[in-house]
Amino acid sequence: IVDPPPGPLVFEGTKLVNDAAHPWRELRPGDIRGPCPGLNTLANHGYLPRNGIATPGQIIYAAQEGFNMWGKTARFITYSAMLVSGNPITNLLSIGGKTWRTGLDPPPPARVGGLSDHGLFEGDASMTRTDHSFGGDHAGFNQAQFDQFVDFSNEYGNGFYNLTVAGELRYHLIQQGIATNPSFEFVNGRFFSAYGESTFPINHFVDGRNYNGQLSMAAAETFFKDGKYPDDFWRAPAPIGAFGIERVFMAHPTVIPGRNVGGVNNYVFDPTSADLIKFCTLYSNFVDQVLGLYPNPHGLLRRNLILNLGWFYNSIDDSGCTERFPYGQL
Ligand code: HEM
Ligand code: MG
Repeated sequence: IVDPPPGPLVFEGTKLVNDAAHPWRELRPGDIRGPCPGLNTLANHGYLPRNGIATPGQIIYAAQEGFNMWGKTARFITYSAMLVSGNPITNLLSIGGKTWRTGLDPPPPARVGGLSDHGLFEGDASMTRTDHSFGGDHAGFNQAQFDQFVDFSNEYGNGFYNLTVAGELRYHLIQQGIATNPSFEFVNGRFFSAYGESTFPINHFVDGRNYNGQLSMAAAETFFKDGKYPDDFWRAPAPIGAFGIERVFMAHPTVIPGRNVGGVNNYVFDPTSADLIKFCTLYSNFVDQVLGLYPNPHGLLRRNLILNLGWFYNSIDDSGCTERFPYGQL
């Protein structure tokens, strides 16, 4: 029942994606949304199942079709999310919180918590969501966080979100977390995803016909807040991933992976964590994290974990990292 990931799009150019076949609709009772404005938008327009429960193949295809996300980027993100927060037996992932709709859970310590499960994929220092430890809704849109996004876009981008703004805002969010969140954590997958996600609004939320790296605040608000394409929205002109991630980092290259220990303003470097240049550490630490959730899988569970880990590795096979087979090979 696990499907191999879809290949590249047949047509890889820009096109109208907010089209008649994909109307935005209000949520129905029980529909699930989460911390990712990209996936929320895809679900609200029917590129993903509107209930917010999808297979990895559906998510990868929707990210490609609806935003022209590069296939390898979509696979890398999706399989990493699937492996820690999805149900490997039913092959379903919730794009928000934990739900019975992904089927009967494998035994603990597996979590199958959906994308909102804090500390696996979801993490601190998000642009438009608050940190988990503040106790509110850490997956939903937060107006004060978005106001800050707008302030930075005004100050550094003449009213637009661009790579210059991204560099300043990313750094500020990390400093803000260190200063206000006693449990602030910024390591491994979150270190990468935070920098990558800083580029997505520029690469994916700007209309493909006027693709100038400048996101208007009106467009930002419809994506982040409502999970909605602007009217007449066209996707990116060519497949693209986290383009510009190095520029976001290099704006403040002193940032190191770590966490607050014992309270705010006590950020301690974690030498075991990956950072942007220790990519194979990211891969290997991730495999260890999966092993922590699935120490001793059997049968279909083991088989599907092997398949998902293999597709995850395939998405980074040009990185030179040594592939690991903690559950053997099929
Ligand atoms: C954030 C998952 C695709 C744009 C997130 C987060 C998750 C996630 C779990 C929350 C991280 C956090 O801020 O704590 C995924 C998965 C994808 C995917 C599994 C599968 C391909 C996309 C796409 C876009 C996108 C296609 C853009 C079109 C974003 C942005 C954020 C984000 C901008 C940051 C939100 C913020 O910081 O406020 N994603 N995402 N993602 N995602 Fe996605
Ligand atoms: Mg977050």
